[in-house]
Amino acid sequence: MEFETLVQARRSIRGYKKDPVPRKVLQEIINVAKGAPSSMNTQPWHVHIVTGEPLECIRKGNTDNMMAGVPPKRDFPMKEDYQGIHRQRQVDVAKQLFSAMGIERDDKKRRMDWVMRGFRQFDAPVSIVLTYDKYLEPAAISHFDLGAVAYGICLAACERGLGTVINGQGIMQSHVVREHANIPDDQNIMICIAMGYPNEDFAANSVKAVRAKHDDFVHYVGFEEITEAETA
Ligand SMILES: Cc1cc2nc3c(=O)[nH]c(=O)nc-3n(C[C@H](O)[C@H](O)[C@H](O)COP(=O)(O)O)c2cc1C
Repeated sequence: MEFETLVQARRSIRGYKKDPVPRKVLQEIINVAKGAPSSMNTQPWHVHIVTGEPLECIRKGNTDNMMAGVPPKRDFPMKEDYQGIHRQRQVDVAKQLFSAMGIERDDKKRRMDWVMRGFRQFDAPVSIVLTYDKYLEPAAISHFDLGAVAYGICLAACERGLGTVINGQGIMQSHVVREHANIPDDQNIMICIAMGYPNEDFAANSVKAVRAKHDDFVHYVGFEEITEAETA
């Protein structure tokens, strides 16, 4: 697929068919994604691809812990307390998703079901868990590098007709994921990516999250003139 078409076509997929993803396809995707740049070519990522029984155990463990009120526990300090425009965008995309799913603002049960769906990895047949070596902490540059490989995975999957959603929900109980995905103690869990063939009938899959206007976040310095194309 042409690159721009691919970027436009990708969106987060939160409803999947049961069909398994062949291991050969997963290998191809990772081989594309590993072309990501990384600081000094360190390639600090480990990629754990989980399916079948271990993934079912993760779903159950996540669900049981969340229902029992076990506080979320990540492997590294995290405090994204979004404010202002960031908070607004977070609210806006949640509204888009709830509206697509027909979930009313005061429907506590369905809202909770939706949240639990995230902890179940959106019932996707595959979860890709990205980790990095613990000794790298505080690992801001390695986090950046893992972001690059994560996006590569999503694009390469999309090109092959697969859906993905990068998500923090699936690893909110990182110790559960560590246990069932057999992740070594000297690695920290960064994020996971749910993956599978999109369920075309799942309403939230049609949501296209809005992006800011070019001029709202791009700052040109030292340029003499602004063309019409640039202000579009
Ligand atoms: C680091 C990261 C964490 C995310 N965590 C979640 C999550 O826990 N649950 C979820 O439904 N989506 C999650 N997302 C998906 C974002 O909501 C999504 O990328 C954003 O709304 C833009 O929509 P798009 O991916 O469809 O373009 C996450 C994305 C990233 C990059």
